[in-house]
Amino acid sequence: MSALEPPTLLLRRVRPYGEGDPVDVLVRDGLVAAIGPDAGADLPGEAEIHDLGGAVLLPGFVDLHTHLREPGREDTETVASGSAAAARGGYTAVFAMANTQPPQDNQTVTDSVWRIGRSVGLCDIHPVGAVTVGLKGEQLTEMGQMASGEAGVRIFSDDGMCVYDPLVMRRALEYSAGLGVLIAQHAEEPRLTKGAVAHEGPTAARLGLTGWPRSAEESIVARDAILARDAGARVHICHASTTGTVELLKWAKAQGISITAEVTPHHLLLDDTRLETYDGVYRVNPPLREAHDTLALRDALVSGVIDCVATDHAPHAAQEKCCEFAAARPGMLGLETALPIVAALLVESGEMTWRDLARVMSARPAEIAGLTDQGRPIAVGEPANLAAVEPDSPWTVVGEELASLSANTPYEGMTFAARVVGTVYRGRMTHRDGEVLA
Ligand code: NCD
Ligand code: ZN
Repeated sequence: MSALEPPTLLLRRVRPYGEGDPVDVLVRDGLVAAIGPDAGADLPGEAEIHDLGGAVLLPGFVDLHTHLREPGREDTETVASGSAAAARGGYTAVFAMANTQPPQDNQTVTDSVWRIGRSVGLCDIHPVGAVTVGLKGEQLTEMGQMASGEAGVRIFSDDGMCVYDPLVMRRALEYSAGLGVLIAQHAEEPRLTKGAVAHEGPTAARLGLTGWPRSAEESIVARDAILARDAGARVHICHASTTGTVELLKWAKAQGISITAEVTPHHLLLDDTRLETYDGVYRVNPPLREAHDTLALRDALVSGVIDCVATDHAPHAAQEKCCEFAAARPGMLGLETALPIVAALLVESGEMTWRDLARVMSARPAEIAGLTDQGRPIAVGEPANLAAVEPDSPWTVVGEELASLSANTPYEGMTFAARVVGTVYRGRMTHRDGEVLA
């Protein structure tokens, strides 16, 4: 067996989608080769056997929104460390946002990130291309070049910054429709968020923090839905965070507008009362909102108004987070805690099945990105990108123990019942019980 050929794997005692009795799954040549009690018959001697003890088997997760910080801030995350975090989180494909230093606004950078991802080999790393040069919101990038390069860039975003100028956004959407690529918008009207560090509401008022009103997000969501309609383009809304955004998405989808949206685990779980301690770990864009927003976001994910979960994994160095609240960089880690949070909020509560969770964490994000070999059903002949989850294996989050080079998790000390215990990427086990396998 050459180093390039994936080994034959037998996953013993797994429950696809958490349904029915445990079965065995045979993985050969990177594909699911057999499922059932006899899947392991005629196993070659060199096969790897992993007894997963009845774990739920899901398609590997796909993250449309990750920050990997390479190039430029390799002290906080690299493609390699972020890939390890992804593997531990059950992810087999992640989209690496363009706000690196230098930004991913040209083919040289997007192809280089792509190649590093390939050589690390723990999951598919898809660089996102910037919409505008330097993420400045002024001049469109050469999207076509990035799309036709080695990386085959299919999502473009200035995330971290909003494409705020309506004329630039209109042109970007028109151009993207012609190229068959997707624009993902960080919806934040900058004129409404000058100096803002927290959600505008009673908590920020009491704590003396400058507020980021919901209207800063919602006005851009409404505008971009209309621009996408008129351009005949698709648009994707990053990290939806408000009740009003949910209403606008509902409206836009009812009009037949090609709009999709993601929500982060932290906007589903946490609200702005966390800011009481002034701990910079809770600073994030868009900010943690109020309890009714978290409930509306959960309902929207269950009903499909919000299409998928994306982590917005945003590593930052300790000195950038452990400082006065307003000086802390916005962003929090997400890859290694996404599954346990979504499982706790929506599966353990009975609002979703594991199959529903597979839709919002794997199938739907893969569809939105146009990936054909990710987010696939667990079936014979399909690519073996898989995540094994123990639903009731409580663990406590410790930032320093995460694979990420940064430790800015808002879940420090929190205990979750569900745990990712194994990840299979292109037919290879990339992670087992917390250990990342090269
Ligand atoms: C992100 C980052 O750190 O790059 N920060 C954040 O608060 N979410 C940028 C972004 O996703 O907007
Ligand atoms: Zn953003």
